[in-house]
Amino acid sequence: MSHSLGMSHPPIAPDAPWLAPLAGFSDLPFRLLCRELGAMVAVTEMVSAKGLFYDSRNTKRLLDTCPADSPLVVQLFGAEPDYLERAAAALAETGYTYFDLNCGCSVRKVVKTGAGAALLGDPDRLAACAKAMVRAVGLGRVGVKLRLGPKPPARVDLELAARLAEAGAAWLALHPRHASQGFSGTANRLALGEFVAASPLPVIASGDLMTAEDGRAVLAETGAKGVMYARGALADPRVFARHAAFFTEKGQTARAVPSVCDVVRRHAALCREHADDRQALMRMRTAVPRYLRELPGCRALRDRLCRVQSWNELSDILSEAEALAAASSQAAGEAA
Ligand SMILES: Cc1cc2nc3c(=O)[nH]c(=O)nc-3n(C[C@H](O)[C@H](O)[C@H](O)COP(=O)(O)O)c2cc1C
Repeated sequence: MSHSLGMSHPPIAPDAPWLAPLAGFSDLPFRLLCRELGAMVAVTEMVSAKGLFYDSRNTKRLLDTCPADSPLVVQLFGAEPDYLERAAAALAETGYTYFDLNCGCSVRKVVKTGAGAALLGDPDRLAACAKAMVRAVGLGRVGVKLRLGPKPPARVDLELAARLAEAGAAWLALHPRHASQGFSGTANRLALGEFVAASPLPVIASGDLMTAEDGRAVLAETGAKGVMYARGALADPRVFARHAAFFTEKGQTARAVPSVCDVVRRHAALCREHADDRQALMRMRTAVPRYLRELPGCRALRDRLCRVQSWNELSDILSEAEALAAASSQAAGEAA
């Protein structure tokens, strides 16, 4: 199916933070949790374009969505324009609106097929992949997520910005590290600023945005149009509510920031609503110890959280965490 009419892209603005694609984490319950806390747009975990045709069970789970999960960007990975085109077309046919091409993942399993970060080493193929996706779904609906290049110091991002605009992409996201760096060193804000200046398309900043303050700073320093939170959202999804607070006008009421235990309870409720019970509890084992890591005395609870066996047990641990937090804030108050 081809579309000649352009559509407007998903919201990209300083006060419209995105939840970044997070393989293994940005599933439907987590996306809904982040949206409730202020994420304006969310991206799925990466989905194999080929897998859509051959590995339907796992791929279908990655594509789970519901009306509240909008606007949603489906991230595809692949190295063959033909598969990417067919995958995007098939998904658009079933109602998905926005798509992203993964050009940053350096996991071996992905790179050895020529997909993800491997595309950075073959800009012609990368541009052809993006073009094929645009051909399938039309203008305004396809973004590309890049890194600076395969390995330092050579950069391909600046050249790609213009080529991807020509190919019909509507936005670009940049994690300003080279693929070979993984997550080592620091995200290069100077390079991100150069990319923003060179890009004819709106740019969403990624990389080392652990707190809302980091998000605010990267917007100010680079001129990026928007930000996406990744590890910052995993560590504390309230980063979105805190980000919103920067944009609350004088006289307006700031978005409430719930307690961390309330965030856990809400995440648990969303997991139970959208996953089977066992899966939902397993997800709690990985998510909750991270959320609670800063509560006083929580280290002792962490082992129990990693092995939690039932919803009642989770609820008991949360009550204990709340009691510990209350006792410690009372002690701090008395000391002051
Ligand atoms: C656990 C994990 C999974 C990720 N999965 C994806 C993915 O599926 N697709 C993608 O483009 N980037 C993925 N990323 C990269 C993030 O979207 C983001 O660009 C990167 O973490 C840099 O941002 P941060 O330093 O603020 O976390 C992943 C990162 C992490 C930590």
